[in-house]
Amino acid sequence: MVKRPVVKELPGPKAKEIIEKNFEVLATTTQDPEALPIVIDHGEGVLVYDIDGNSFYDFGSGVGVMNVGHAHPKVVEAVKRQAEKFTHFALNDFFYENAVVLAQKLSELAPGDFAKKVAYQNSGAEANEVMMKLVKYGTGRKRFIAFYHAFHGRTQAVLSLTASKWVQQERFFPTMPGVEHIPYPNPYRNPWHIDGYADPKELINRVLEFLEDYVFKHVPPEEVGAIVFEPIQGEGGYVVPPKDFFKDLKKLADKYGILLADDEVQMGVGRTGKFWAIEHFGIAPDTIQFGKAIGGGIPLAGCIHRADIAFDKPGRHASTFGGNPVAIEAAIEVVEIVKGLLPHVQEVGDYLHKRLKELEENYEVIGDARGLGLAQAVEFVKNKDTKEKNAEVRNKVVAEAAKRGLILLGCGDNSLRFIPPLIVTKEEIDVAMEIFEESLKAALK
Ligand SMILES: Cc1ncc(COP(=O)(O)O)c(C=O)c1O
Repeated sequence: MVKRPVVKELPGPKAKEIIEKNFEVLATTTQDPEALPIVIDHGEGVLVYDIDGNSFYDFGSGVGVMNVGHAHPKVVEAVKRQAEKFTHFALNDFFYENAVVLAQKLSELAPGDFAKKVAYQNSGAEANEVMMKLVKYGTGRKRFIAFYHAFHGRTQAVLSLTASKWVQQERFFPTMPGVEHIPYPNPYRNPWHIDGYADPKELINRVLEFLEDYVFKHVPPEEVGAIVFEPIQGEGGYVVPPKDFFKDLKKLADKYGILLADDEVQMGVGRTGKFWAIEHFGIAPDTIQFGKAIGGGIPLAGCIHRADIAFDKPGRHASTFGGNPVAIEAAIEVVEIVKGLLPHVQEVGDYLHKRLKELEENYEVIGDARGLGLAQAVEFVKNKDTKEKNAEVRNKVVAEAAKRGLILLGCGDNSLRFIPPLIVTKEEIDVAMEIFEESLKAALK
């Protein structure tokens, strides 16, 4: 029998003190002390423990990072093993073996029967940054297409791709010029207000028509280097596009010689039940940006790309820490663990999806439950007919769930994601669903 997490007081006295100090000395990021006043002490598998002895199910996986679970013994062992040998030797200027081993593994796992190379970075934003430079350099084209509600990171160039929330943009303009956005094919909520759930083919056609009939009327397609996309929109609300979308997008892109740049920073590394989420959609993208989960919690990111757009000279792009050997040693373990977990992710992911669909039927405020594998979400509405967004209930549920020992994260304006470590069991999902429903009832009071 799995036990429920235990929360005595949130925040407890030690946590209160740290959080107060945190806001005095750390730059403001995205922390919301109202919703999640959790100061971690340690983690194990799906569970995390705070410094006051409260325990939680981590259904946010440290924001999509801890796919193999907290303190996975193989990852801990790999970190120790490598740290005892060397922790840094600057892959910019020198060489080490595990960097080659991981690059080979990642390239083999990436779809596409063409030669590939890997550019290592440290964060998801940097992975997209190097993708943009590779595309510009390798194709000679300088423009990009991205999607509304996309999140690709917050550095100045990558911010031009991100179109998620104005708080990320305000006062930071100008970002990089030459990026146009088009609507993402959201079956539940689309700009054409196609009733109910949009017919997949109609939705795809509207998006592609928008690109051709509006964007390409003023942007010469021959100047566009890549269309940048998330295979499932993450921060935008866990939006799953129609199955054929990327095949049709690729046909259009091929017509103009435009590359497809697949941002798998959040959805890759087994999250959806395939190693790369794009494998659900049957195309081979020209680049795959990875990050978050790959290093098992140690910062590592990068871009797998067609060898024919690779940089031709040293110094075109580099980063002192990109491809850190400790992170790589951990990542080699993560890759093997995740490969072994894929059937489990599909099975428990389907189970979680079914449980969330049942709740969708029973609660007027749950407009849509959606997802693939263990990338699941629900969208809150005021009522199912109008689909009016209900951020208030979503935010209350996050806070209520934390009080009961379940960590959940919002996404989009009014959605809530369920992204536990991939090792989660059905019994643990049952406990999480019990807490979620209690939290929802409390939020609706
Ligand atoms: C799809 C996607 N791309 C890029 C990023 C940026 O990653 P990082 O925060 O490591 O820069 C994120 C982060 O949430 C993401 O979800």
